[in-house]
Amino acid sequence: MSTRVLVADDEPITRQLCLEVLEGLGYATQVAETCSRALSVLEEGRVDIVVSDVQMPDGNGIDLLRTIKENHPGVDVLVMTGYGTISEAVEAVKLGAYDYITKPFKVDDFRRLVERLVERQRLTAENRLLREEVKTQRGFGEFVGTSAPMQKVYELILKVCDKRHPVLILGESGTGKELVARAIHSYGSLREKSFVPVDCGALTPNLIESELFGHVRGAFTGASQARAGLLAVAGGGTVLLDEIGELPVELQSKLLRALQEREVRPVGSNDAVPMQARTLAATNRDLEAAIEKGTFREDLYFRLNVVSIQLPPLREHKGDIPGLVQYFIYRLGGVEAGITGFSREALDRMMSYAWPGNVRELQNCIQHAISLGTGPFLQLKDLPATLQGHLKSKSQPDDPHTLEDLERRAILNALQSAGGDRLGAAKLLGIGKTTIYRKLKEYGLDDVATADLFRKTLS
Ligand SMILES: Nc1ncnc2c1ncn2[C@@H]1O[C@H](COP(=O)(O)OP(=O)(O)OP(=O)(O)O)[C@@H](O)[C@H]1O
Ligand SMILES: [Mg+2]
Repeated sequence: MSTRVLVADDEPITRQLCLEVLEGLGYATQVAETCSRALSVLEEGRVDIVVSDVQMPDGNGIDLLRTIKENHPGVDVLVMTGYGTISEAVEAVKLGAYDYITKPFKVDDFRRLVERLVERQRLTAENRLLREEVKTQRGFGEFVGTSAPMQKVYELILKVCDKRHPVLILGESGTGKELVARAIHSYGSLREKSFVPVDCGALTPNLIESELFGHVRGAFTGASQARAGLLAVAGGGTVLLDEIGELPVELQSKLLRALQEREVRPVGSNDAVPMQARTLAATNRDLEAAIEKGTFREDLYFRLNVVSIQLPPLREHKGDIPGLVQYFIYRLGGVEAGITGFSREALDRMMSYAWPGNVRELQNCIQHAISLGTGPFLQLKDLPATLQGHLKSKSQPDDPHTLEDLERRAILNALQSAGGDRLGAAKLLGIGKTTIYRKLKEYGLDDVATADLFRKTLS
């Protein structure tokens, strides 16, 4: 659907100019010569943007703006002010106008301003859709998991993705830090630009320095060609400084300077190159402990940690395990290998295991099981040796169940362990209050007495 713009101005020349630009951009337009006409157009149908003059024959554009913000909060307003009336412009912005432009203006300036606003509206609408997606069953984008701690992560991603400030992503190994960084990049306004991950831990200090900052020809032995650093190569995109906790201290100062001055100096060069990229950093290290020990610079920590996103270890959101298992079976070619589900015993084992390697370990576990399993259900014996270790005595045979059966059973087990306390069970499962109430309803367990619960678990 094309953007609809209402131009409210009593001067025919300005109106004409605006219409030419707006129609040239493919937007649907309407005009109003007075405030009252503008308001009735707004009442009649959908308008996305109002471009309004301040001096109108029947009133003041500022009052018009106020009414629009009150009655049509979704409509953005661009204000056109006369020369020398900057105070009106400031007031308009304070009252919620998107921006102002001073008359007479250049056609190009007006076009750019409108395009910027339309782009922002598009992103806002998209984020609204994403927010809806967060609430659906599977998860969010590439993420699987609807537990409360993961919902918190998704909300933070949506909050920071359109900003330009650094974000520090924390979490144990395999919890999905890189996935978070990619999501921030691809949901934000930089998504068309490049995403450049740099592993600060994988290389020797000299190599990382030239990887990050670049070098000139002959800067050191072996530097037969000049090379641009990744901080500059990323252009206006996103750089992920992965394993930032491993960056040698001497390079930490150089990185800090680059971030502060927004320019990088290649090794062996006196000239700085501008750096425009947004920086994200990730680590599984405890940086505050590293600061105490003197192995990480506190000032760099503050610079990177404008906002931090902490990923929960898998053992703290076990309720997401059944969904993740199912997802990995599909994604890793289980269906092609004739495997469509998993046995109750295999899931019970996966639910009771601590997953020190988190989601990545679970992914490897399913990969392993698919290559060994014969289908149609993954069995306990197909799981890797690490999960075979702590056998629990279970009398039931290893028979297949549907995902619903397994979930229902997990909920019953949790309720039983929590002595019938629904919130306690939610906590055990790593799911939120609303989710457990919804699930109990779904499985017809919402008004079952505690004693019955035990009977149901055993049946
Ligand atoms: N919630 C999730 N849903 C689906 N896949 C996930 C989820 N979390 C992680 N993964 C997958 O698990 C693997 C590990 O994730 P990722 O590489 O982002 O972890 P990491 O925290 O960066 O690990 P490390 O500290 O070892 O670098 C990836 O293949 C990723 O796609
Ligand atoms: Mg990683």
